[in-house]
Amino acid sequence: MTIKETLSQHLQTALKNLLGDNLSCACKINVEIAQDLRYGDYQSNAAMVLARQLKKNPRALAEDILQGLGELPEAETEIAGPGFINFRVRPSFFAQTLFSMLGDPRLGVVATSNPKTIIIDFSAPNVAKPMHVGHIRSTIIGDTLARIARFMGNKVITDNHIGDWGTQFGMILWGWKNKLNPELLQKDPIATLLEVYKNVNTLCKEQPSVLKECKDELVKLQSGDSENLEIWKQCIQLTKVGLEKIYKRLDIHFDYWLGESFYNDALSPLVQNLMERGIARESDGAICVFSDGFHDPQQDPFLVSKNGQWLPVPAIIRKADGGFLYATTDLATLDYRINHFHADAIWYVVGAAQDKHFKQIFDIERMRGVTGDFRHVAFGSILGKDRRPFKTRDGETVSLQDVIDEAIERASRVVHEKNPTLPEEEKKNIAQAVGIGAIKFAELSQNRLSDYIFDWDKMLALTGDTAPYLQNSFVRVCSIFRKTNTDFESIQSEKAPILKHESEIQLARLLVRFAEVVPAILDDCRPNLLAAYLYDLARSFHSFYEACPVLRSEGFERESRLILCALTARVLKKGMGLLGITLPERM
Ligand code: ARG
Repeated sequence: MTIKETLSQHLQTALKNLLGDNLSCACKINVEIAQDLRYGDYQSNAAMVLARQLKKNPRALAEDILQGLGELPEAETEIAGPGFINFRVRPSFFAQTLFSMLGDPRLGVVATSNPKTIIIDFSAPNVAKPMHVGHIRSTIIGDTLARIARFMGNKVITDNHIGDWGTQFGMILWGWKNKLNPELLQKDPIATLLEVYKNVNTLCKEQPSVLKECKDELVKLQSGDSENLEIWKQCIQLTKVGLEKIYKRLDIHFDYWLGESFYNDALSPLVQNLMERGIARESDGAICVFSDGFHDPQQDPFLVSKNGQWLPVPAIIRKADGGFLYATTDLATLDYRINHFHADAIWYVVGAAQDKHFKQIFDIERMRGVTGDFRHVAFGSILGKDRRPFKTRDGETVSLQDVIDEAIERASRVVHEKNPTLPEEEKKNIAQAVGIGAIKFAELSQNRLSDYIFDWDKMLALTGDTAPYLQNSFVRVCSIFRKTNTDFESIQSEKAPILKHESEIQLARLLVRFAEVVPAILDDCRPNLLAAYLYDLARSFHSFYEACPVLRSEGFERESRLILCALTARVLKKGMGLLGITLPERM
């Protein structure tokens, strides 16, 4: 049990004893982390909430609750302001909690008692279209969520729902037949296919005859022409190989690659079924789903307000020409995930621009009676320093591959400046960890819904909330253990450490909080909570390290401080690992 849960339980028991049947259990009373240490570690407004219900004086009620709590072994209690109850955890209890963390490979994080099958749909670039920096956000956030959800004991399935069946294939097929450089294609399939697409796209604008030929190629593909299907398959295959290389560098893995085309055969029956059930109907030749009036207009994803009137915005699931759409595929995909994988939860890590799309999809599922924990884990844009969408100097979208290359190159300079004498091979590995860590941490330390500015200097700085700062903190801890010839993973102790100095207590306070931070991330898919926590931890380690000599102290004080160091190293490693970031032991 975490400290928060322990204190909440004490509070609940005290309230039950005090109020008995009067306690309306509709409000489940918990303690919360106090915003400011002056109010202790945890705080509860229970007395104020209940006083209102019971028409009592809140401070008087708080006095009674305190009486009922009595002397707690874990914390001192006090009343503050209009009736807050503050809990100040005793250093001895922090110490005891650290002691149990020391023997726990999960560092106090308790797996969920209600494990679910969670599909995480992320990255999902489109074949022959650029996997641009916007996909970075999805790829990095999705991977972290998968790691955390798995660590919490859920069954997690990662699925890369690539866009492998779009209209872009008309142009790709034509380009393949007329404009292809096979050597380049083998060398860098992603970039080459993209070039082909861009060139043919321009050509189509100049020559209507080419546009017509492209359309014909697309129709041939869609009606099963074997030559075109063969080329299409090769495009997908080559793209996958190229993508795999990128994912490997990022240490990201997909359990499945069920792209859009996987669902082609399911689309027609799906539309048929929705029509039979009266959920979809014909409109101007197309098949659409309209609002069923379930929501207030403000919340209805099938309505839009214009000049003071609510106008319908249906989800189109079959065009008048018989073609299916992105929404149709997503409905079929959701079906498959429920029926085949028995998913309880499906989380889509996709930009905020697709908000309406997902609202409509989830709402159609509601109309069909399909339920689950469906979430659109949305995110904002990445901006350049000029606060405009992040682009290369010549105005092109930035490719993820280039971002990785540049990050590693810049990181090698940082590493070289810091420690020029390290062996070349080791420097290379460190630069890799630092460069990729920097991109990931810059992403994950943001509130995902805000736009953020992509700033190389900031993300690679050795100070501030950056990966290099955290990596450097870890290196510092490791160097302590190198000097003692022990390692932080195996260090054990007969008894709980003793915490005296304020900076030791502060470090302990943060270490035990790991158990509370990790589970909370999944409530609203907010990895930035973990990033912010780890930064606080590293900072408080530095303060401790400055204030309290470790190796120069003696006896049990030395042992206690080594325990603090070992747990700092372990929490940093585990925590950064959950963010997908590697920590080198030297740099
Ligand atoms: N390929 C889409 C895009 O790049 C993202 C797909 C997200 N997943 C989904 N099931 N719709 O915008």
